[in-house]
Amino acid sequence: MKPDDWHLHLREGAVLNKVLDFSSKVFSRALVMPNLSNPVISPLKAMEYKKEITKRLGRNSEFTPLMTLYLTESTKPQIIKELKRGHIITAIKYYPAGATTNSTNGIKSFKTILPVLEEMAKNDIPLCIHGELPGEEYDIFDREKLFIDLVLDRIISIIPDLRITLEHITTLDAIQYIKHANKNLAATITVHHLMLNRNHMFQKGIRPHYYCLPVAKREKHRKALLQTATSGNKKFFLGTDSAPHLSRDKESDCGCAGIFSAPYALNLLAGIFEEEKKLDNLEKFVSINGATHYNLPVNTNKITLVKRDSPIKVRNHIKVNNDKVMIFGKDFDIYWEIKLPKNESF
Ligand code: DOR
Ligand code: ZN
Repeated sequence: MKPDDWHLHLREGAVLNKVLDFSSKVFSRALVMPNLSNPVISPLKAMEYKKEITKRLGRNSEFTPLMTLYLTESTKPQIIKELKRGHIITAIKYYPAGATTNSTNGIKSFKTILPVLEEMAKNDIPLCIHGELPGEEYDIFDREKLFIDLVLDRIISIIPDLRITLEHITTLDAIQYIKHANKNLAATITVHHLMLNRNHMFQKGIRPHYYCLPVAKREKHRKALLQTATSGNKKFFLGTDSAPHLSRDKESDCGCAGIFSAPYALNLLAGIFEEEKKLDNLEKFVSINGATHYNLPVNTNKITLVKRDSPIKVRNHIKVNNDKVMIFGKDFDIYWEIKLPKNESF
């Protein structure tokens, strides 16, 4: 079955134009993140953003962008019913203020948004969480665990009926917490966190294109993610967190976080699952578990992956205006190729 991407940054304008095809030709649906420079904080903005995406899709495209709303401390519980009735969004996104790209309008204290979360649980709207506790006093490698212990665990104990996705998990602590939590908690895992540990960011020099948030952790955490993602456990599924940034923004004095992984995400995953001898579970991770968590039908359309005898030619970057966006995958041998329908290419 065709895969879905349960965590994707498509951006706007020129970048959106250049990156959309990579997801829309391979994935059936994607949950589109709302952290634009002017974030998607109202139902109207969500509708406008969806229109901007869909007008760029080819006429025969089978791709559906599923929209999200950016939660702020001013979000009113009253809009939840409107969102539900209008089928405007699929989930609401919780960014702790200051945790990542464009998160300044995010949440400072989870207590202020409890009434909204209660209303979401009542109306069965899922919450997606960037699970890191921001703050210079907290070590960057501990922020995921701290968020789980000090925020997530408390939200779940107050509102156990709220459906939650803990996004882009990076630690063994998160895996264990999710496995033992109630059925409403699930998690996405990215391709890059299955492939990189924290040493890769400093391999023979500093590698800005391996910098993302949450930052990659120790090898023991990567191994645990690998084991979990390939196990078929229905609480874990793919969210690429593909996050394109211009090279000049990443290769700078203060480079920003994000890895543009959409172009080879599925190819790389096929290689990972093959190496783990778990190809049988690939479909669960990319096509079934996520749809089940979001209470949506599993796709019926298909995609074909073919294993080549020698590595395929991997693109290094895409051009955007006078700059470029580097592609994750260029440093690896990729043997799996996606067969697109005749007359289609990227
Ligand atoms: O690496 C990241 N990039 N992590 C995030 O949470 C946000 C994303 C982005 O929007 O660039
Ligand atoms: Zn993200």
